[in-house]
Amino acid sequence: KRLAVFVSGGGSNFRSINQACIEGFVNGDVVVLVTNKHDKGIPVILFPKTKDEPDGLSPDDLVKVLREFEVDFILLAGYLKLIPAELIRAYSRSIFNIHPSLLPSFGGKGYYGMKVHKAVIASGARYSGATIHFVDEHYDTGRILAQKIVPVLANDTAEELAARVLREEHKLYVEVTTALCEDRIVWREDGVPLIQSKE
Ligand code: GRF
Repeated sequence: KRLAVFVSGGGSNFRSINQACIEGFVNGDVVVLVTNKHDKGIPVILFPKTKDEPDGLSPDDLVKVLREFEVDFILLAGYLKLIPAELIRAYSRSIFNIHPSLLPSFGGKGYYGMKVHKAVIASGARYSGATIHFVDEHYDTGRILAQKIVPVLANDTAEELAARVLREEHKLYVEVTTALCEDRIVWREDGVPLIQSKE
């Protein structure tokens, strides 16, 4: 399968997925990287077009480019912008995001970066984790596909919790991408997506 990865920041999830593709654990290839920032240092597609990034593409042009690259799945990995309706329509049931909490808790607009982990610690929750979900037109509300639990320790700082969650994110995203590329997503009658384990 042909994958597009969208990033805004550090890109560590992108690197672990790309590495797993290169090493052959995932039956797929990252064929294009999309970012809303200029400074990635490797060839990328810039999206969206804004006042600050006038070279960026419009949603319709991005869809055309992704079609040219024959992209099967879009993986959001720390991409902070809302995905426009044009893209959701063009890639229905094919766009995924990773979020660093156990959704539906600590998700939605305003819950990004360290804010998520600070809110988890302040709540007194003993467990956090990572969630991979289908992407719809809102932040963090699409169907949940996979989760991993991470303990919150008594004296955790947000940075320590973030690092512990991120290590699990890398494993989870590679596992889910592996399943995606092997067509192992099935839909329960009530609309809940499930990952079938390997025979
Ligand atoms: C991750 O914690 C991800 O869950 C969140 O943003 C962070 C991105 O990290 N959406 P990286 O860019 O993959 O290093």
